[in-house]
Amino acid sequence: MKIQSKLKEYEVIIEKEPSFFDDLCSVPNAFYVIDEKVYGLYRQLFCKIPEGCLYLLEAAEQNKTIETALAICERITAIPAKRNAVLISVGGGIIQDITGFAANIMYRGIRWIFVPTTLLAACDSCIGGKTSLNYKKYKNLLGTFYPPDVLYIYSEMFQTLTEKDYKSGLGEVIKFNIMSGESGLENMERNLSGLLERHQKTVDLFTESSLTYKKSFIEADEFDRGERVKLNFAHTFGHAIETVTNYRIPHGTAVAVGMIMANHISQERGYLPADVAKRSEAVLLQVIDIDVTLLDKPFCEYMRSIRKDKKQESDALTAVLITAYGDTGELSVVHDITEDEIRSAIDYFISIYGEKE
Ligand SMILES: NC(=O)c1ccc[n+]([C@@H]2O[C@H](COP(=O)([O-])OP(=O)(O)OC[C@H]3O[C@@H](n4cnc5c(N)ncnc54)[C@H](O)[C@@H]3O)[C@@H](O)[C@H]2O)c1
Ligand SMILES: [Zn+2]
Repeated sequence: MKIQSKLKEYEVIIEKEPSFFDDLCSVPNAFYVIDEKVYGLYRQLFCKIPEGCLYLLEAAEQNKTIETALAICERITAIPAKRNAVLISVGGGIIQDITGFAANIMYRGIRWIFVPTTLLAACDSCIGGKTSLNYKKYKNLLGTFYPPDVLYIYSEMFQTLTEKDYKSGLGEVIKFNIMSGESGLENMERNLSGLLERHQKTVDLFTESSLTYKKSFIEADEFDRGERVKLNFAHTFGHAIETVTNYRIPHGTAVAVGMIMANHISQERGYLPADVAKRSEAVLLQVIDIDVTLLDKPFCEYMRSIRKDKKQESDALTAVLITAYGDTGELSVVHDITEDEIRSAIDYFISIYGEKE
Protein backbone atom coordinates (compact mmCIF):
# COMPACT_ATOMS: atom_id res chain seq x y z
CA MET A 1 0.00 0.00 0.00
CA LYS A 2 1.36 3.41 -0.98
CA ILE A 3 0.50 6.54 0.98
CA GLN A 4 0.70 9.94 -0.67
CA SER A 5 1.96 12.68 1.59
CA LYS A 6 2.95 16.28 0.83
CA LEU A 7 6.30 15.38 2.37
CA LYS A 8 6.97 12.13 0.52
CA GLU A 9 5.30 9.03 -0.79
CA TYR A 10 5.73 6.09 1.55
CA GLU A 11 4.86 2.43 1.57
CA VAL A 12 3.33 -0.07 3.96
CA ILE A 13 4.47 -3.64 3.38
CA ILE A 14 2.66 -6.55 5.05
CA GLU A 15 5.16 -9.34 5.77
CA LYS A 16 4.22 -12.98 6.30
CA GLU A 17 7.69 -14.19 7.36
CA PRO A 18 10.24 -12.61 9.67
CA SER A 19 13.10 -12.86 7.13
CA PHE A 20 12.75 -9.13 6.26
CA PHE A 21 14.47 -8.45 9.59
CA ASP A 22 17.71 -9.90 8.13
CA ASP A 23 17.64 -7.22 5.44
CA LEU A 24 16.75 -4.51 7.96
CA CYS A 25 19.71 -5.50 10.14
CA SER A 26 22.10 -4.93 7.25
CA VAL A 27 20.84 -1.57 5.98
CA PRO A 28 23.95 0.64 5.53
CA ASN A 29 24.33 3.60 7.93
CA ALA A 30 21.48 2.45 10.14
CA PHE A 31 20.85 3.13 13.80
CA TYR A 32 18.24 1.02 15.60
CA VAL A 33 15.79 1.89 18.36
CA ILE A 34 13.86 -1.12 19.64
CA ASP A 35 11.24 -1.52 22.35
CA GLU A 36 13.19 -3.37 25.04
CA LYS A 37 10.35 -5.81 25.69
CA VAL A 38 10.14 -6.66 21.98
CA TYR A 39 13.93 -7.06 21.88
CA GLY A 40 13.74 -9.48 24.82
CA LEU A 41 11.03 -11.54 23.13
CA TYR A 42 12.53 -11.61 19.62
CA ARG A 43 16.26 -11.26 20.30
CA GLN A 44 17.20 -13.77 17.56
CA LEU A 45 15.73 -11.46 14.89
CA PHE A 46 18.07 -8.66 15.86
CA CYS A 47 21.37 -10.49 16.40
CA LYS A 48 22.93 -9.05 13.22
CA ILE A 49 22.63 -5.41 14.33
CA PRO A 50 26.18 -3.97 14.33
CA GLU A 51 27.68 -3.06 17.69
CA GLY A 52 27.13 0.45 18.93
CA CYS A 53 24.10 0.93 16.70
CA LEU A 54 21.35 -0.21 19.05
CA TYR A 55 19.30 1.74 21.58
CA LEU A 56 16.81 -0.20 23.69
CA LEU A 57 13.91 1.84 24.95
CA GLU A 58 11.27 1.06 27.54
CA ALA A 59 7.80 1.82 26.12
CA ALA A 60 6.67 4.07 28.97
CA GLU A 61 4.82 7.38 28.71
CA GLN A 62 7.40 9.01 31.00
CA ASN A 63 10.04 8.24 28.35
CA LYS A 64 8.09 9.98 25.58
CA THR A 65 10.03 13.17 26.12
CA ILE A 66 12.29 15.54 24.27
CA GLU A 67 15.17 14.29 26.45
CA THR A 68 14.77 10.75 25.09
CA ALA A 69 14.55 12.06 21.50
CA LEU A 70 17.73 14.07 22.08
CA ALA A 71 19.51 11.07 23.63
CA ILE A 72 18.75 9.12 20.44
CA CYS A 73 20.05 12.00 18.30
CA GLU A 74 23.21 12.08 20.40
CA ARG A 75 23.78 8.36 19.78
CA ILE A 76 23.27 8.88 16.04
CA THR A 77 26.02 11.50 15.99
CA ALA A 78 28.40 8.72 17.04
CA ILE A 79 27.87 6.66 13.87
CA PRO A 80 29.94 7.73 10.83
CA ALA A 81 26.89 8.51 8.64
CA LYS A 82 25.52 12.04 8.65
CA ARG A 83 22.52 13.06 6.52
CA ASN A 84 22.57 9.59 4.96
CA ALA A 85 21.93 7.99 8.37
CA VAL A 86 18.81 5.80 8.60
CA LEU A 87 16.80 5.40 11.78
CA ILE A 88 15.10 2.02 12.06
CA SER A 89 12.64 1.64 14.91
CA VAL A 90 10.67 -1.34 16.13
CA GLY A 91 7.85 -1.12 18.69
CA GLY A 92 4.41 0.31 19.41
CA GLY A 93 3.05 3.85 19.38
CA ILE A 94 5.39 5.11 22.08
CA ILE A 95 8.51 4.04 20.16
CA GLN A 96 6.95 5.45 16.97
CA ASP A 97 6.21 8.84 18.51
CA ILE A 98 9.73 9.27 19.94
CA THR A 99 11.68 7.97 16.96
CA GLY A 100 9.58 9.82 14.39
CA PHE A 101 10.37 13.05 16.20
CA ALA A 102 14.08 12.19 16.48
CA ALA A 103 14.29 11.27 12.76
CA ASN A 104 12.58 14.56 11.89
CA ILE A 105 14.94 16.83 13.80
CA MET A 106 18.18 14.92 13.22
CA TYR A 107 20.13 16.73 10.48
CA ARG A 108 16.75 18.32 9.56
CA GLY A 109 15.32 14.95 8.64
CA ILE A 110 16.87 11.53 8.02
CA ARG A 111 15.39 8.37 6.50
CA TRP A 112 13.18 6.48 8.90
CA ILE A 113 11.92 2.90 8.70
CA PHE A 114 9.35 1.75 11.24
CA VAL A 115 8.12 -1.72 12.22
CA PRO A 116 4.95 -1.38 14.34
CA THR A 117 4.69 -4.28 16.79
CA THR A 118 1.38 -3.46 18.48
CA LEU A 119 -1.99 -3.82 16.80
CA LEU A 120 -2.75 -0.18 17.62
CA ALA A 121 0.37 1.11 15.90
CA ALA A 122 -0.06 -1.24 12.92
CA CYS A 123 -3.73 -0.59 12.21
CA ASP A 124 -3.80 3.10 13.04
CA SER A 125 -0.96 5.29 14.26
CA CYS A 126 1.79 4.10 11.86
CA ILE A 127 0.32 6.08 8.96
CA GLY A 128 -0.61 9.73 9.08
CA GLY A 129 2.79 11.04 10.06
CA LYS A 130 2.06 12.43 13.51
CA THR A 131 4.91 12.42 16.00
CA SER A 132 4.25 13.39 19.61
CA LEU A 133 6.09 13.93 22.85
CA ASN A 134 4.78 14.57 26.33
CA TYR A 135 5.92 17.79 28.00
CA LYS A 136 5.66 18.30 31.76
CA LYS A 137 2.17 17.12 32.61
CA TYR A 138 0.85 17.60 29.09
CA LYS A 139 0.43 14.53 26.91
CA ASN A 140 1.38 14.81 23.24
CA LEU A 141 1.95 18.57 23.57
CA LEU A 142 4.99 18.66 21.29
CA GLY A 143 4.92 17.16 17.87
CA THR A 144 5.49 17.32 14.16
CA PHE A 145 4.30 15.69 10.96
CA TYR A 146 6.97 13.30 9.71
CA PRO A 147 5.97 10.00 8.12
CA PRO A 148 8.36 7.07 7.87
CA ASP A 149 9.82 6.16 4.46
CA VAL A 150 8.77 2.53 4.72
CA LEU A 151 6.70 0.51 7.17
CA TYR A 152 6.85 -3.24 7.63
CA ILE A 153 3.97 -4.96 9.41
CA TYR A 154 4.52 -8.50 10.65
CA SER A 155 1.36 -9.40 12.51
CA GLU A 156 2.73 -12.64 13.97
CA MET A 157 4.35 -10.39 16.57
CA PHE A 158 0.92 -9.40 17.92
CA GLN A 159 0.64 -12.91 19.39
CA THR A 160 2.86 -11.86 22.27
CA LEU A 161 0.89 -8.71 23.17
CA THR A 162 -0.89 -8.84 26.50
CA GLU A 163 -4.66 -9.16 26.28
CA LYS A 164 -4.89 -5.56 27.53
CA ASP A 165 -2.63 -4.15 24.79
CA TYR A 166 -4.15 -6.31 22.05
CA LYS A 167 -7.72 -5.32 22.94
CA SER A 168 -6.68 -1.68 23.03
CA GLY A 169 -5.67 -2.02 19.35
CA LEU A 170 -9.02 -3.67 18.60
CA GLY A 171 -10.73 -0.53 19.94
CA GLU A 172 -9.34 1.48 17.01
CA VAL A 173 -10.08 -1.31 14.49
CA ILE A 174 -13.70 -1.33 15.64
CA LYS A 175 -13.80 2.46 15.41
CA PHE A 176 -12.90 2.45 11.71
CA ASN A 177 -15.48 -0.24 10.99
CA ILE A 178 -18.33 1.36 12.92
CA MET A 179 -17.57 4.75 11.35
CA SER A 180 -17.60 3.31 7.86
CA GLY A 181 -21.29 2.31 8.01
CA GLU A 182 -23.59 -0.70 8.02
CA SER A 183 -21.29 -3.10 6.13
CA GLY A 184 -18.37 -2.23 8.43
CA LEU A 185 -20.48 -2.95 11.48
CA GLU A 186 -21.69 -6.26 10.01
CA ASN A 187 -18.13 -7.18 9.09
CA MET A 188 -17.10 -6.55 12.67
CA GLU A 189 -19.96 -8.64 14.08
CA ARG A 190 -18.96 -11.53 11.79
CA ASN A 191 -15.24 -11.41 12.50
CA LEU A 192 -14.80 -10.25 16.07
CA SER A 193 -14.32 -13.76 17.45
CA GLY A 194 -11.54 -14.45 14.89
CA LEU A 195 -9.92 -11.16 15.82
CA LEU A 196 -10.17 -11.90 19.53
CA GLU A 197 -8.52 -15.27 18.88
CA ARG A 198 -5.82 -13.49 16.86
CA HIS A 199 -6.25 -15.54 13.65
CA GLN A 200 -3.43 -14.22 11.54
CA LYS A 201 -5.41 -14.00 8.29
CA THR A 202 -8.26 -12.12 9.96
CA VAL A 203 -5.84 -9.80 11.77
CA ASP A 204 -4.02 -9.04 8.49
CA LEU A 205 -7.27 -8.38 6.66
CA PHE A 206 -8.50 -5.96 9.30
CA THR A 207 -5.13 -4.25 9.62
CA GLU A 208 -5.12 -3.61 5.88
CA SER A 209 -8.74 -2.48 5.74
CA SER A 210 -8.22 -0.13 8.72
CA LEU A 211 -5.19 1.44 7.03
CA THR A 212 -7.03 1.73 3.70
CA TYR A 213 -9.88 3.52 5.45
CA LYS A 214 -7.56 5.86 7.36
CA LYS A 215 -5.51 6.50 4.18
CA SER A 216 -8.52 8.13 2.48
CA PHE A 217 -8.76 10.70 5.28
CA ILE A 218 -5.07 11.50 5.67
CA GLU A 219 -4.50 11.82 1.94
CA ALA A 220 -7.42 14.25 1.68
CA ASP A 221 -6.36 16.29 4.71
CA GLU A 222 -2.86 15.39 5.85
CA PHE A 223 -2.45 18.22 8.32
CA ASP A 224 -5.69 17.71 10.23
CA ARG A 225 -7.56 20.84 9.20
CA GLY A 226 -10.79 19.34 7.89
CA GLU A 227 -11.85 15.80 6.92
CA ARG A 228 -9.19 14.12 9.05
CA VAL A 229 -10.71 15.57 12.22
CA LYS A 230 -13.50 13.00 11.77
CA LEU A 231 -11.03 10.27 12.70
CA ASN A 232 -11.23 11.84 16.11
CA PHE A 233 -14.62 10.18 16.53
CA ALA A 234 -14.92 9.08 20.20
CA HIS A 235 -11.56 10.65 21.08
CA THR A 236 -12.87 13.68 22.98
CA PHE A 237 -14.39 11.25 25.49
CA GLY A 238 -11.53 8.75 25.14
CA HIS A 239 -8.90 11.37 26.00
CA ALA A 240 -10.94 12.46 29.03
CA ILE A 241 -11.08 8.85 30.21
CA GLU A 242 -7.32 8.47 29.77
CA THR A 243 -6.71 11.67 31.75
CA VAL A 244 -9.08 11.10 34.66
CA THR A 245 -7.80 7.52 35.10
CA ASN A 246 -4.21 8.71 34.89
CA TYR A 247 -3.60 6.56 31.79
CA ARG A 248 -4.46 3.30 33.55
CA ILE A 249 -6.91 2.63 30.72
CA PRO A 250 -4.94 2.30 27.46
CA HIS A 251 -5.71 4.56 24.50
CA GLY A 252 -7.69 2.19 22.25
CA THR A 253 -9.77 0.91 25.18
CA ALA A 254 -10.56 4.48 26.24
CA VAL A 255 -11.64 5.16 22.64
CA ALA A 256 -13.90 2.08 22.75
CA VAL A 257 -15.58 3.43 25.91
CA GLY A 258 -15.70 6.88 24.26
CA MET A 259 -17.53 5.38 21.28
CA ILE A 260 -20.29 4.01 23.52
CA MET A 261 -20.63 7.47 25.07
CA ALA A 262 -20.61 9.28 21.71
CA ASN A 263 -23.18 6.87 20.26
CA HIS A 264 -25.38 7.30 23.31
CA ILE A 265 -25.48 11.05 22.64
CA SER A 266 -26.12 10.42 18.92
CA GLN A 267 -28.96 8.07 19.72
CA GLU A 268 -30.55 10.46 22.22
CA ARG A 269 -30.41 13.21 19.60
CA GLY A 270 -32.09 10.96 17.05
CA TYR A 271 -29.00 10.80 14.79
CA LEU A 272 -28.37 7.08 15.26
CA PRO A 273 -30.99 4.30 15.23
CA ALA A 274 -31.27 2.54 18.60
CA ASP A 275 -30.54 -0.88 17.09
CA VAL A 276 -27.26 0.34 15.53
CA ALA A 277 -26.22 1.84 18.87
CA LYS A 278 -27.04 -1.46 20.63
CA ARG A 279 -25.21 -3.61 18.07
CA SER A 280 -22.13 -1.35 18.22
CA GLU A 281 -22.23 -1.51 21.99
CA ALA A 282 -22.37 -5.33 21.95
CA VAL A 283 -19.23 -5.42 19.79
CA LEU A 284 -17.42 -2.81 21.86
CA LEU A 285 -18.17 -4.41 25.21
CA GLN A 286 -16.31 -7.53 24.08
CA VAL A 287 -13.02 -5.60 23.93
CA ILE A 288 -13.50 -3.46 27.04
CA ASP A 289 -12.03 -5.09 30.15
CA ILE A 290 -11.59 -2.40 32.75
CA ASP A 291 -11.88 -1.77 36.43
CA VAL A 292 -14.96 0.42 36.10
CA THR A 293 -14.37 2.01 39.53
CA LEU A 294 -11.52 3.89 37.81
CA LEU A 295 -14.21 5.96 36.09
CA ASP A 296 -15.76 6.94 39.38
CA LYS A 297 -14.31 10.47 39.35
CA PRO A 298 -15.99 13.82 40.03
CA PHE A 299 -17.73 15.07 36.88
CA CYS A 300 -15.70 18.29 37.00
CA GLU A 301 -12.53 16.27 36.30
CA TYR A 302 -14.03 14.97 33.05
CA MET A 303 -15.13 18.46 32.11
CA ARG A 304 -11.72 19.96 32.88
CA SER A 305 -10.09 17.40 30.62
CA ILE A 306 -12.62 17.83 27.79
CA ARG A 307 -12.20 21.60 27.87
CA LYS A 308 -8.40 21.23 27.64
CA ASP A 309 -8.54 18.89 24.63
CA LYS A 310 -6.54 20.24 21.68
CA LYS A 311 -9.57 19.86 19.41
CA GLN A 312 -11.73 22.23 21.54
CA GLU A 313 -11.73 25.58 19.78
CA SER A 314 -14.16 27.62 21.82
CA ASP A 315 -16.35 27.58 24.94
CA ALA A 316 -19.00 25.40 23.31
CA LEU A 317 -18.22 21.72 23.73
CA THR A 318 -17.20 20.04 20.53
CA ALA A 319 -16.99 16.39 19.56
CA VAL A 320 -17.21 14.27 16.44
CA LEU A 321 -20.48 12.33 16.43
CA ILE A 322 -22.20 9.97 14.04
CA THR A 323 -25.00 12.14 12.68
CA ALA A 324 -26.59 9.69 10.21
CA TYR A 325 -26.14 6.00 9.54
CA GLY A 326 -26.75 3.82 6.54
CA ASP A 327 -24.55 2.18 3.89
CA THR A 328 -21.98 4.72 5.01
CA GLY A 329 -21.69 6.41 8.36
CA GLU A 330 -21.97 10.19 8.33
CA LEU A 331 -19.80 11.96 10.87
CA SER A 332 -19.90 15.62 11.81
CA VAL A 333 -18.09 17.93 14.17
CA VAL A 334 -20.85 18.94 16.58
CA HIS A 335 -20.27 22.17 18.48
CA ASP A 336 -23.19 22.34 20.89
CA ILE A 337 -22.72 19.39 23.19
CA THR A 338 -24.02 20.12 26.66
CA GLU A 339 -22.60 19.14 30.03
CA ASP A 340 -25.83 17.26 30.73
CA GLU A 341 -25.33 15.12 27.64
CA ILE A 342 -21.81 14.26 28.72
CA ARG A 343 -22.91 13.46 32.27
CA SER A 344 -25.66 11.22 31.00
CA ALA A 345 -23.26 9.45 28.56
CA ILE A 346 -20.80 8.67 31.39
CA ASP A 347 -23.61 7.42 33.67
CA TYR A 348 -24.97 5.34 30.81
CA PHE A 349 -21.64 3.62 30.19
CA ILE A 350 -21.10 2.90 33.88
CA SER A 351 -24.58 1.39 34.20
CA ILE A 352 -24.36 -0.90 31.13
CA TYR A 353 -20.82 -1.99 32.02
CA GLY A 354 -22.10 -2.91 35.50
CA GLU A 355 -24.77 -5.12 33.86
CA LYS A 356 -22.09 -6.85 31.74
CA GLU A 357 -20.14 -7.75 34.86
N1 LIG B 1 1.34 9.26 16.47
C1 LIG B 1 0.07 8.90 16.41
O1 LIG B 1 -0.62 9.14 15.43
C2 LIG B 1 -0.53 8.17 17.58
C3 LIG B 1 -1.84 7.69 17.48
C4 LIG B 1 -2.37 6.96 18.54
C5 LIG B 1 -1.59 6.74 19.67
N2 LIG B 1 -0.33 7.24 19.74
C6 LIG B 1 0.50 7.02 20.92
O2 LIG B 1 0.84 5.65 20.98
C7 LIG B 1 1.08 5.28 22.33
C8 LIG B 1 0.42 3.97 22.62
O3 LIG B 1 0.98 3.04 21.73
P1 LIG B 1 0.62 1.49 21.70
O4 LIG B 1 -0.76 1.26 22.17
O5 LIG B 1 1.04 1.01 20.38
O6 LIG B 1 1.50 0.85 22.80
P2 LIG B 1 2.91 1.07 23.50
O7 LIG B 1 3.96 1.50 22.56
O8 LIG B 1 2.63 1.86 24.72
O9 LIG B 1 3.18 -0.45 23.94
C9 LIG B 1 2.29 -1.11 24.82
C10 LIG B 1 3.01 -2.28 25.49
O10 LIG B 1 3.20 -3.34 24.55
C11 LIG B 1 4.56 -3.79 24.57
N3 LIG B 1 4.80 -4.38 23.25
C12 LIG B 1 4.97 -3.75 22.06
N4 LIG B 1 5.02 -4.65 21.06
C13 LIG B 1 4.90 -5.88 21.63
C14 LIG B 1 4.84 -7.21 21.12
N5 LIG B 1 4.87 -7.46 19.81
N6 LIG B 1 4.72 -8.22 22.00
C15 LIG B 1 4.62 -7.97 23.33
N7 LIG B 1 4.64 -6.76 23.88
C16 LIG B 1 4.77 -5.72 23.03
C17 LIG B 1 5.32 -2.56 24.94
O11 LIG B 1 6.58 -2.87 25.48
C18 LIG B 1 4.41 -1.95 26.00
O12 LIG B 1 4.58 -2.61 27.23
C19 LIG B 1 0.58 6.43 23.19
O13 LIG B 1 1.68 7.15 23.68
C20 LIG B 1 -0.22 7.29 22.21
O14 LIG B 1 -0.19 8.65 22.56
C21 LIG B 1 0.22 7.93 18.71
ZN1 LIG C 1 -6.74 6.94 18.66
